[in-house]
Amino acid sequence: MIDLRRHNSNFCPDHFVKFCRDQVARAIDEFEMIQPGQRALVAVSGGKDSLAVWDLLLESGYEADGLYVGLGIADYSDTSGEFAQRFARDRGLRLQVLDVPESYGYDIPSGARAARRVPCSACGLTKRHLFDQAAIDGGYDVLVTGHNLDDEAAVLFGNVLRWQTEYLARQHPVLPEGDGFPKKVKPLVRLSERETAAYCVLRGIDYMVEECPMAVGNRHLGYKEALNEIELASPGTKAAFYFGFLQRGAELLRVDGDRAAELGVCERCGSPAGAAICAFCRLVERAGGHTMDSRPVETGRQ
Ligand code: AMP
Ligand code: FES
Ligand code: ZN
Repeated sequence: MIDLRRHNSNFCPDHFVKFCRDQVARAIDEFEMIQPGQRALVAVSGGKDSLAVWDLLLESGYEADGLYVGLGIADYSDTSGEFAQRFARDRGLRLQVLDVPESYGYDIPSGARAARRVPCSACGLTKRHLFDQAAIDGGYDVLVTGHNLDDEAAVLFGNVLRWQTEYLARQHPVLPEGDGFPKKVKPLVRLSERETAAYCVLRGIDYMVEECPMAVGNRHLGYKEALNEIELASPGTKAAFYFGFLQRGAELLRVDGDRAAELGVCERCGSPAGAAICAFCRLVERAGGHTMDSRPVETGRQ
């Protein structure tokens, strides 16, 4: 039996899997994430959420390929890459593998130090850029990530604590395509971390359990822990906080979010940029790497 206090319910394994599919279907429908027949690119880290969302999309009949980005975080990247590749290989799926040290000449730990950024910020910037580029180059209709309810509630919490209104205005489970950006969707927003982990166990999905060593002790994890304490005392609060924001708070902040419209094009890579050279190309330069027009290596389906 799987006990979900926030829903006041207990599920047997089969019904729990159905519950997860229904939550994903509801999110896709409610936020108009993916239309039948569209092609999705799923960013897979080898962790539970992204493998679960890939599996859930395929099970629901969507056409979905994977993208794994090797960030050069020593053993962590090697192992997470193996989980992603094994998942794809065992199921005959198409997975693009893009290795940052190989293609761009830097890794996250030393690149972040050289660029004087905290690792998670250099990592986030790198991933966002490479996800966008791969989705655009591959002609995909949507880019899918495995962000779940806990992730989104923790980001919201952090943004509210500092009243970062620009970030708040953009926080939505769907970001529309436009100006060189692909449409980006988060179909797991209705599922918690605990639920995606249980889904993987029930579906026999082997995933990387360890968290990224660079993220240990960061603010985001602290916010997650704080919200978990609150959720424990008052089940359902996390979902009420996040969905209440989407339904009633986000609208009030819309004006700030429209500033994103004034973007130009990066001289080096052609991506959308707020300056002559985009933030990613500046990071690559400061990290001592090189920009190059790298195409992902394809593995999986032969
Ligand atoms: P994180 O930024 O680690 O919280 O991950 C958020 C989402 O980004 C995951 O659910 C994945 O969809 C995606 N992701 C994270 N790391 C990678 C990676 N190395 N390669 C591809 N996708 C990733
Ligand atoms: Fe990006 Fe850890 S996965 S810093
Ligand atoms: Zn650029």
